[in-house]
Amino acid sequence: MKLHEFPRYPLTFGPSPVHPLERLTAHLGGASIWAKREDVSSGLAFGGNKTRKLEYIVPDVLASGADTLVSIGGYQSNHTRQVAAVAARLGLGCRLVQEKWVDWDDPVNASVGNILLSRIMGADVRLDDSGFDIGIRQSWEDALREVEEAGGTPYAIPAGASEHRLGGLGFANWAFEVAEQEQQLDVFFDTIVVCTVTGSTHAGMIAGFAALEDLTGRTRRVIGIDASATLDKTRAQVARIARHTAELIELGRDLRDDEITVLEGWAGDLYGIPVESTVDAIRLSGRLEGMIIDPVYEGKSMAGLVDLVTSGDISPDSTVLYAHLGGQPALNAYSGVFA
Ligand SMILES: Cc1ncc(COP(=O)(O)O)c(C=O)c1O
Repeated sequence: MKLHEFPRYPLTFGPSPVHPLERLTAHLGGASIWAKREDVSSGLAFGGNKTRKLEYIVPDVLASGADTLVSIGGYQSNHTRQVAAVAARLGLGCRLVQEKWVDWDDPVNASVGNILLSRIMGADVRLDDSGFDIGIRQSWEDALREVEEAGGTPYAIPAGASEHRLGGLGFANWAFEVAEQEQQLDVFFDTIVVCTVTGSTHAGMIAGFAALEDLTGRTRRVIGIDASATLDKTRAQVARIARHTAELIELGRDLRDDEITVLEGWAGDLYGIPVESTVDAIRLSGRLEGMIIDPVYEGKSMAGLVDLVTSGDISPDSTVLYAHLGGQPALNAYSGVFA
């Protein structure tokens, strides 16, 4: 099927806003930098990138007759918070496994921010001691079984909605949305910078921009900045999901290796732990643009963007689109970093 033929359940307000980051551009003195804002794209519990992925998964949920969404993430998962919001919107139950993905000793880590919002929205939130892993987890399979044993009909949404067969479509469509906005704004983004962890955001973009390249002949760099600190797993997952999504939308060719770029250098040693460059990037973005980014994901991709622009790796005549994927509620568990 072609991308536009896949059913999509509208959860966002429409295309997410695109705007220039003029003061950041002037400060870095290189490429022209813009942002596309998934953090303000919906009215569902502060939005974020998962809402767009879920637009393509919800029709399958409704067709399945399920009554409970079951998903998984860390204590401060943005993904599970967006699943809880979608369940509330659809009138479905929601069972969330929140694992101890981050060894972060802030005493409020399991009670403020994302997890607080999920509880407010009525999700059945269960904590689990397991550590970080982007793959399929036993705890999540157990939760699916328990929902069934209690007489419910679960619908399985893996971490980040990434291992879901439709998980890449939302951001394949994002690429086409960007192309329309480029026409309206009379601009061409030759470089996209995006944070990547479970992979389907970046992978979807790769598939979507590949399809656009085949239509227009114009190439661009889609740079994924790893924030998982398990680089090999994320790289493999991005490549696999990108190829799967490309096939789903009938790209008609294999993706080239140069279309799949995941850069390391800004994740630090551990997922979820901000490093100096993360905190600097958060402060820079806040002070220059009033644009708030988080310490787990966007602070790391912004740190990557800053270095790539200042080093000239992204050339001064480039026009860069920074994908702001949301995630600010987690900041509440990191107040000590900014004390
Ligand atoms: C705010 C934010 N940015 C980036 C990502 C990374 O997206 P993905 O897991 O699709 O690679 C996530 C989720 O994991 C997120 O919540």
